[in-house]
Amino acid sequence: MERRRFGPTRREVSVVGQGTWFIERAGRAAAVAALRRGIDLGMTHIDTAEMYGDGAAEEVVGEALAGRRGEVFLVSKVLPQNASGSGTVLACERSLARLQTDRLDCYLLHWRGENPLEDTIAAFERLRAAGKILSWGVSNFDVPDLEEARRIAGEGRLACNQVLYHLKERAIEHAVLPWCERHSVAVVAYSPFGHGEFPGPRTRGGQVLREIATAHHATPRQVALRFLLRRPSLFAIPKASSPEHAEENAGAGALRLTAEELALIDAAFPPGPRPRELPTL
Ligand SMILES: NC(=O)c1ccc[n+]([C@@H]2O[C@H](COP(=O)([O-])OP(=O)(O)OC[C@H]3O[C@@H](n4cnc5c(N)ncnc54)[C@H](OP(=O)(O)O)[C@@H]3O)[C@@H](O)[C@H]2O)c1
Repeated sequence: MERRRFGPTRREVSVVGQGTWFIERAGRAAAVAALRRGIDLGMTHIDTAEMYGDGAAEEVVGEALAGRRGEVFLVSKVLPQNASGSGTVLACERSLARLQTDRLDCYLLHWRGENPLEDTIAAFERLRAAGKILSWGVSNFDVPDLEEARRIAGEGRLACNQVLYHLKERAIEHAVLPWCERHSVAVVAYSPFGHGEFPGPRTRGGQVLREIATAHHATPRQVALRFLLRRPSLFAIPKASSPEHAEENAGAGALRLTAEELALIDAAFPPGPRPRELPTL
């Protein structure tokens, strides 16, 4: 499994990680087995959130990490309605208890809400000083929100922006991705398979993925993941609820695509027009 420097942190993190939204619905034993198999295969970047299953996903992750906490880069998220100065600290402590750990490797604001960003960031810094989180970041932030976070925290504090990114949703490429790269912020692709909307084998895009996969003795999903990882700032966190799916996803970690193959995928899944409301960079 390839690893990369995660934004401004000094941590090398697996390019393919594991999401956990709805993972508890697979049943606890299957979910734990999937996560543990994924860790065995190097998918040690684990993403969860207090929101997922109202804490149930964090409990599953806690069980999967028993005896293995040191192997993983563990990320959780605070809900915006909890992200006041004191609320962020309390939410983090609840997450730590469910995860049965004393620290998160990265703690994210799940999306921008009503609580002032200054208060959330001040709480993140207090948690960092206390050793309860080792770094912090954001999720679903557009460029104006990212600018605001950087203005408040200063350069080099924001570890990552976790954003929607898959073959049929490439909007971040217009402004968010370039901004993050300019400021050394890791970009974590969530829903990298389109949250269940993966291109079907009969679509033109699906056929392109299949042809490239066949040439590499790989699968279309592995090819799709590798395309999303084609820049050094990028990470992806597919969610799998079975060991078999986890094994397939981990296979993307060693796959390499040629420039020509990347161009074919780029043409089959064009990024779409630049949204008008985003500032020009
Ligand atoms: N920050 C945010 O706002 C935000 C929003 C959405 C998601 N996320 C994070 O990103 C993670 C991933 O996104 P997602 O869960 O929305 O969707 P996703 O990873 O794009 O897709 C998950 C779906 O793909 C299936 N799948 C996974 N591996 C497969 C394989 N090898 N073969 C066939 N099917 C496979 C899963 O089925 P099985 O479950 O049956 O394996 C599930 O139905 C989430 O779990 C969460 O941690 C963050």
